[in-house]
Amino acid sequence: MLVLGIESSCDDTGLALVDDSGLIGSVMASQVPIHALFGGVVPELASREHARLIGPLLDKLLADTGKKITDIDRIAVTRGPGLLGSLLVGVQFAKSLSLATSIPLIGVNHLHAHLLVAGLENSLAFPALGILVSGGHTHLMQMESPFSMKVLGKTLDDAAGEACDKFGKMLGLPYPGGAYLDKLAQYGTINTKLFPRPYTKNDNYDFSFSGMKTAASLWLQENPEAKLPLLPLGEKYSEEFFQNCPQIAKDGAASYLYAIADTLVIKAKRVFKEFQPQCIICAGGVAANSFVRSQLTDFAKEKNLPFYVPKISFCSDNGIMIAYTGYLLAQKGYFHDLTLSAIARGKPIPQDYLQK
Ligand code: KG4
Ligand code: ZN
Repeated sequence: MLVLGIESSCDDTGLALVDDSGLIGSVMASQVPIHALFGGVVPELASREHARLIGPLLDKLLADTGKKITDIDRIAVTRGPGLLGSLLVGVQFAKSLSLATSIPLIGVNHLHAHLLVAGLENSLAFPALGILVSGGHTHLMQMESPFSMKVLGKTLDDAAGEACDKFGKMLGLPYPGGAYLDKLAQYGTINTKLFPRPYTKNDNYDFSFSGMKTAASLWLQENPEAKLPLLPLGEKYSEEFFQNCPQIAKDGAASYLYAIADTLVIKAKRVFKEFQPQCIICAGGVAANSFVRSQLTDFAKEKNLPFYVPKISFCSDNGIMIAYTGYLLAQKGYFHDLTLSAIARGKPIPQDYLQK
């Protein structure tokens, strides 16, 4: 069974083909250079770019893989959560394609897809603990199966990725700052006491990372020498740039990322009161972070559980995770009809599959 996956929930347009043997091919267009000019995603620009790119990207995917539209058995598309305008482009495109070709449609929950793509290269055991950390989401999920997941906790304000991006911006790094902060932090020494573990003095599974920004801003006021020089727009941030940054900035970055990763571990530990996972999965853009990876690896070792993180290229938004999740749903006989709608961030995504 050949499944086309379409992702357009935020600022990446990604399409991919997955079949019984795994990944067949993928294409992707990132809008980072456009939104970097504004220091964050501008929703109207994002949807316009999706609309401009989605058709040519499908043509490229088919040309690259030597497949024809008629070879496709299912069209899987991100239905939410995300930016409504961006989602609508993908959903309308998928519905039009489905209507024109009679290929059945499947709407995919973007958050589930982030976690499930770990199964493309690993054999996941359920129930699993899912730790989803991205620019827009920080969720702890009880994954009973690929088709049944419960949100145990989530961020009440900023996501972990947002906290990284904001600190990056304060230091003078370009948008999105998370990956740059990680690079800078590689040259730093961790001071475990420098930053708080926000919203951990309670017994729930939720997060609140907005306090990290306040802590970072106060720290920066006390240590203005940590501010980095701005590079002219378009100039590359080389390894040499990070090496030459002030030591205090490197140490601040390392301590900040350590505190974020530690906060994730503190909350993940609590989940074991709720259920006994068979494995731990971490996914989303922030799963690419070296501190998050290493601290969660240690945590999983301590619990004697397998720990899975999708490959870095599968971590940030992409069409592969949608195609793979669509494939899993299609295996169960699930599909949607043309009444499928896009669901914006903050609204629940129903499990309203039709089945045959
Ligand atoms: O999953 P994703 O691509 O998009 C969303 O659905 O949000 O995640 C993007 C987020 C951004 O906040 C970005 O800064 C962060 O992931 N990110 C990182 C790293 N790579 C990407 N944060 C920390 N360290 C990294 N290495
Ligand atoms: Zn995402």
